[in-house]
Amino acid sequence: MEKINKFKFKINKLFYSLFKERFNKEINFDFPQNINRWDLIKEIIKIRNFSSYLEIGCDDDHSFNNITVNDKIGVDPYSGGNFRGTSNFFFSQNNRKFDCIFIDGLHEYDQVCNDLENSLNCLKENGIILLHDTLPANIHQQAVPRYKIIWNGDVWKSIVKYRIKKDCDIVTCKIDHGVSVVQKIINKKPLKNIDILDCKKLNFKDFYENHKEYMRIMSYKEVIDYISKSSD
Ligand SMILES: C[S@@+](CC[C@H](N)C(=O)[O-])C[C@H]1O[C@@H](n2cnc3c(N)ncnc32)[C@H](O)[C@@H]1O
Repeated sequence: MEKINKFKFKINKLFYSLFKERFNKEINFDFPQNINRWDLIKEIIKIRNFSSYLEIGCDDDHSFNNITVNDKIGVDPYSGGNFRGTSNFFFSQNNRKFDCIFIDGLHEYDQVCNDLENSLNCLKENGIILLHDTLPANIHQQAVPRYKIIWNGDVWKSIVKYRIKKDCDIVTCKIDHGVSVVQKIINKKPLKNIDILDCKKLNFKDFYENHKEYMRIMSYKEVIDYISKSSD
């Protein structure tokens, strides 16, 4: 991970509260203690019998080391994985396709949208993309620019953007700060009444009030059932 600069965090916090948004309410997601992001990834790999895996953002390899498929690539400019560089650089030179892609790199809207679009373009038929950190509990964990160690960023806004589109079906699993699951199939429940151009301008208050509808939240078991049924 990039080095943490505490002074910069203080400036960012001040900037955010003065010029961006102030909102005190929190969401209690009550994430189960014993289910991690890699448990969902591993289960999906098992159900779909996947043999190739790409991870964007690896850090200490907590997820990457848990994935047992032999054909795996982990991309990170600073630490972990087996490809040193940014996701933009990786995708600019990549010409292969993957069964399963886990996006967990820079948690900022524009970068996540890039990572998701590039991933959709190199996803095998029947493949699945997962994104981490899509359920922030409070404004501090979702603020961009970042000022917290535990940070989800505004990944959720990218999910809103793709929930409006007609060609992806997305659900969000209520585990481990939120893991959204994207399939390249017709959107069964497209989000209405939001202009796709306004997604970046949404704020945490919008998320607080609409997160169930925006994110299409499901329990771990419900997501497993959904994945099993949509592969029949
Ligand atoms: C939250 S950590 C990843 C955690 C890991 N996926 C896991 O499950 O344990 C985010 C990582 O993204 C990396 N990162 C930051 N900017 C990136 C970029 N532009 N492309 C790829 N990775 C990036 C950081 O270096 C950091 O290691």
